[in-house]
Amino acid sequence: MEKKRYILAGTGSRGLGMFGKPLSFDEELSRYAEIVGLYDVSPARMAFARKELGKPDDFPCDTDFDRLAARVEFDAVIVATTDRAHAEIIVKALSYGKRVFSEKPVCINAAQVREILRAEKESAGGVFVTHNMRYDPAFSTIKKVIDEGAVGRLIFVEYNDFLDRRHGADYFRRWHGEKENSGGLAVHKSCHHFDILNYIVGSYADTLYATGATSFYGKNGPFRGERCSTCTHAEECDFYTDMFNSEKTIGLYKNAEQDSGYIRDRCLFREEITTEDHFHCVFTYLNGVRAVYTLTAFCPFEGMRVVFEGTRGRLEYTAVGRAEWAPGTVSTPGLSEAAGRFLRVYDAREGVRDVEIPTGRGGHGGADPELRKDFFIHSWACAERSPRMATLMEGCQAVLMGDAANISMRENRVVDVQALLEG
Ligand SMILES: NC(=O)c1ccc[n+]([C@@H]2O[C@H](COP(=O)([O-])OP(=O)(O)OC[C@H]3O[C@@H](n4cnc5c(N)ncnc54)[C@H](O)[C@@H]3O)[C@@H](O)[C@H]2O)c1
Repeated sequence: MEKKRYILAGTGSRGLGMFGKPLSFDEELSRYAEIVGLYDVSPARMAFARKELGKPDDFPCDTDFDRLAARVEFDAVIVATTDRAHAEIIVKALSYGKRVFSEKPVCINAAQVREILRAEKESAGGVFVTHNMRYDPAFSTIKKVIDEGAVGRLIFVEYNDFLDRRHGADYFRRWHGEKENSGGLAVHKSCHHFDILNYIVGSYADTLYATGATSFYGKNGPFRGERCSTCTHAEECDFYTDMFNSEKTIGLYKNAEQDSGYIRDRCLFREEITTEDHFHCVFTYLNGVRAVYTLTAFCPFEGMRVVFEGTRGRLEYTAVGRAEWAPGTVSTPGLSEAAGRFLRVYDAREGVRDVEIPTGRGGHGGADPELRKDFFIHSWACAERSPRMATLMEGCQAVLMGDAANISMRENRVVDVQALLEG
């Protein structure tokens, strides 16, 4: 297979760490892939990324996609920008007839879903979405065990996601805190969980009802400032952080404040926050399975609890993360002892058994390296798509559920999820 040439759109943390560096420096991937141009709204961030990728001063970097596209030969575009910009870039890349590998969420609302689906129909290109939970060793095991019939016919699913006071809080420091940028956590974060449930259940959502609020961050804080680095409450705030304590955060964010206006350490108690910090929904699937889902972004630990209940029994997965946080940040005492991952099947006839979860290596529990191989090598080399690669429609379905939750929270009604495809 000849090397494929990629434009990397979005040179922030994920763009650089998940795509730019591995495709440039990983021994295997760099035989099949080459970054040929960078696209971002911030010249300073691009300049930092260019250097990190070992590219020369005259390497094509542009704030205008068409200008960049006219300068370089490319086979595909990787989209790793702020979520709200995905749709525009995907539609643009499709207009060049190119393949797109988009970060999740593929976009932030149903209107953008419809726009992208229309553009894909008219394009020779195609879109895949990096739903990396499909590559997580725990969820790969869960899917296998359920497909083998461990719980019989699936009837009910429950998913509780717990974001801690570091990871969860971080969303409220930056662009995710305003729903117009991210669709809120219902789209930005829950799209991961909605997609993995859809993938395992083998169906798409039918109806959905949600409720939620911002009850911890935003205007609920005891005080507020503009940003951590200038805050007069630094000493008394549990959430104070010195964000700019590494070359990476200075290069990517501090030095790029002027040209992008992107402040990475904004106050998570700012009044303008519109993203819910907890939300809860019930939904039904087209195949009859029913589900309950909750997300909380201020938990004392990071993890999840997922239940699959069927005619034969029940599968339960619980994950409690360790708190490997820097001193001075909010952390829960004794958490390391409680941490672990547990996967158990309760078979109504045969009894209880624990299922081993293989240990992965690399980002997101080993999911990211596996995903890169599928996307950047196998998807070009093999005629048949690996089922773990989320298609455009699958990525869109996860967004539709998040948008349905947003509509439901706003209008206090049950939403017909598939009707959102029609507008
Ligand atoms: N799959 C995962 O597990 C995972 C993990 C982290 C992030 N992500 C996704 O990766 C993407 C990037 O996240 P991040 O944490 O790197 O964010 P970031 O804030 O570090 O970077 C976003 C970049 O997008 C650029 N940008 C914003 N608007 C743009 C536009 N209109 N055109 C071009 N560039 C634009 C910004 O200047 C910035 O460089 C998001 O979509 C996020 O959801 C996925």
